[in-house]
Amino acid sequence: VRIAVMISGGGSNLQALMDAIDSGQIPAEIALVISSDKKAYGLDRAKKRGIPVDCLPEKEMSEDLLSEEILRRLHAFSIDLVLLAGYLKKIPEKVVKVYEEGIINVHPSLIPAFSGKGFYGEKVHRAVHERGVKITGATVHFVNEGMDEGPIILQESVSLTGLETPEEIGKKVLEVEHRILPKAVELFVKNKLKNQQGRILVKGDEV
Ligand code: GRF
Repeated sequence: VRIAVMISGGGSNLQALMDAIDSGQIPAEIALVISSDKKAYGLDRAKKRGIPVDCLPEKEMSEDLLSEEILRRLHAFSIDLVLLAGYLKKIPEKVVKVYEEGIINVHPSLIPAFSGKGFYGEKVHRAVHERGVKITGATVHFVNEGMDEGPIILQESVSLTGLETPEEIGKKVLEVEHRILPKAVELFVKNKLKNQQGRILVKGDEV
């Protein structure tokens, strides 16, 4: 399975994926990394590991041009699975249509809480902090036309005392992301995910 990872920032999720591939947990390869920001440190992580990188600064492009640019690269690299790992932009609908059920996103909350338009990256942790919830977590899901609305693959919770700062919340949630995104990719690559009317079932008891 050939994977493309889309990033926007530090790329710690990308790093977790590369480590899971190196450890043999995920029998697949990352063939391409695309960043929406040319300064993303995740690009350095990919380069260090000899993975081809590209940058698509979507703010300078129309949605149609961005779709074409993304699809051209995904086809050129024969990509089977697209991972949004800390990618802070919306994937164009045309790309979702071509890769439906082949795009997986990690979101730093227990969807549907703190998800959808406006809830991404640090904004999520600030909203969680403001609301004072006692349980938050992370979600890995298939991407559909909506924002954070595709079928959920895995979720894991994080308990909060209420004393944590948004940064500390983010750190706790990131540790969960680094576990469940590689796990979801492993299950996908090993064909253990089954879509039952919009609910994702995991074959066997791997979870
Ligand atoms: C973090 O806010 C994470 O919760 C979200 O994207 C941001 C950065 O992730 N998924 P990464 O370190 O770039 O993978």
